Amino acid sequence: MCGIVGYTGHVQAAPILLDGLARLEYRGYDSAGLAVRDGKAPAEVVKATGKLYHLADKTDQGRALPGCCGIGHTRWATHGDPSMVNAHPHVSGNCSGSGCGPVESDVVGVHNGIIENFTELKEKLLRHDYAFYSETDTEVAVKLVDYYYKKYKIGPVDAITRAMVRIRGSYALALMFKDYPDEIFVARKDSPLVIGTADGASYLASDVPAILKYTRNVYYIDNLQVGRISAGEVKFYDLNGDEVQLPLTEITWDAAAAEKDGYEHFMLKEIHEQPKAVRDTLNSLVKDGKITLEETGLTDEMLRQVNRIDIVACGSAWHVGMASQYVIEDLVRIPVRVELASEYRYRSIPVAPDTLVIIISQSGETADSLAALRVAKERGAMTLAVVNVIGSTIAREADHTLYTLAGPEIAVATTKAYSAQLIAMDVLAVKMAAVRKQITEEQETGFLEALNAIPDQIGRVLEEKQRLQWFSSKIANTHDIFFIGRGLDYAISLEGSLKMKEISYIHSEAYAAGELKHGTISLIEQNTLVIGVLTQGSLFEKTLSNMLECKSRGAYLMGVTTNGNFSVEDSVNFTVYVPKTDEHFIASLAIVPLQLLGYYTSVNRGLDVDKPRNLAKSVTVE
Ligand code: F6R
Repeated sequence: MCGIVGYTGHVQAAPILLDGLARLEYRGYDSAGLAVRDGKAPAEVVKATGKLYHLADKTDQGRALPGCCGIGHTRWATHGDPSMVNAHPHVSGNCSGSGCGPVESDVVGVHNGIIENFTELKEKLLRHDYAFYSETDTEVAVKLVDYYYKKYKIGPVDAITRAMVRIRGSYALALMFKDYPDEIFVARKDSPLVIGTADGASYLASDVPAILKYTRNVYYIDNLQVGRISAGEVKFYDLNGDEVQLPLTEITWDAAAAEKDGYEHFMLKEIHEQPKAVRDTLNSLVKDGKITLEETGLTDEMLRQVNRIDIVACGSAWHVGMASQYVIEDLVRIPVRVELASEYRYRSIPVAPDTLVIIISQSGETADSLAALRVAKERGAMTLAVVNVIGSTIAREADHTLYTLAGPEIAVATTKAYSAQLIAMDVLAVKMAAVRKQITEEQETGFLEALNAIPDQIGRVLEEKQRLQWFSSKIANTHDIFFIGRGLDYAISLEGSLKMKEISYIHSEAYAAGELKHGTISLIEQNTLVIGVLTQGSLFEKTLSNMLECKSRGAYLMGVTTNGNFSVEDSVNFTVYVPKTDEHFIASLAIVPLQLLGYYTSVNRGLDVDKPRNLAKSVTVE
């Protein structure tokens, strides 16, 4: 949610800032803005509502803004509508009109996160004669820093730390002070922020792809730390203002991983990257034919001690949890509950030391998942994070971290990270079953063979894409879609339905097939599309008969099933087959046609596939 960037060095800042923002636009695209300083001259602010290209046009791709030090922002509106006046950067003084032009104030800043107590802070500042021009919490944060800066006549680092003590919520803040030309000051709590240096210049951003073109050496600033950034030099401080040393991390993945590479959309590229994402994740967990969780720090003994698993996540990551639940319960024979992080954090679910709480998160920054992790730790559970973004907050705070190796995922709708999470959870299930002697060595070998075949099998499903493209053109004007399935097929339906609705804006729902007749079936009418997932042998007939109940009420049927189940075609209007695998692992294959269906439907409807309305990639607010 929102992305921030910063640059200070010896070349023009604005084009670099715009380039960085372009790579962060997935985090929000309601408005964008820049503040750039040319030496000691006041910072010049330019903002534009809507997508980033409006700001780029307004500044002649940045060329019209001189100066080698600046900050930028792309917004996903939380406090206040997506208007010019609410767009960042925000200033500590007064501001008339849209807020564009030279900044006379002492402090100008951009922010990603949410200041929870902003009303209380605003009242305090109002009592001290501050006036507010926007509805944002960011303006309050900038003015609070300014208040301490002036009241105590202290330097920026001290003023920021004083403000941090008063602020509740999450933030990655980048601030420029009038008296400190060529420097940027940052502060962080619970919102991502990376800082890099190279060739006498320094960069900051909410996510690595924004600066990867310029540097591979980055610092992950910790919670409640402040950074002072000048050209080619960075210093970090704790809340007491004492300098702290942070390790330099080398980013090993390629900048090309964050480019479209000839595909029309990131989502299509990422769908096609799934064989690699799954293969890389598998290879990191299975060495010489044996599962090794060494890098997570989880020992066999720890896995033997676990008597219950709570999987906690949001959105698609929660759907991975739903799928894994069936696999773990069946293979490991211990109870698993799957909880939405936004609910879990406010419930008093008892956990014991033998409960393993698994947080699944692509970004590793999702606010609710992070809060759930902290709650689980407080309650005494052992925690495992299954995370894609290296160095993210959830990865760092969990007791154990299992990294999925999907590489950077740019499209807002997840595909390859989902698939990498699924395979990681499958491997974990097999490992737990093996160390707890629920399966024989022979069975373990069989499961690993099946898992190893998955990447190539996904490749074969991708070959079906033209049929799905054709079918999506037939359904592009549909109003409602129901995805149904039982057991693991229900979990697959949940993800298929989300993929469809989030990027095509067609209303869709996923239902446990047997539940439909308890109310929702009244919504089925002539030509309502019902997509049945039928991969589980023992449930095949049951789901098929639920589909037929819909057909007899006018529904048009699509089925996703495994090769060989050709009888489906007797009753279903359009069928997609996926290769056979062990039924526990079929979600990795059956989801692919549903991802493609969602993708092509969105394209057919002329929508912005990679940046669907109202969404952002990384949900760092509650
Ligand atoms: C949907 C999607 C979201 C995320 C959810 C959790 O396509 O991507 O539902 O899965 O916001 O995000 P992470 O995994 O970053 O915690």
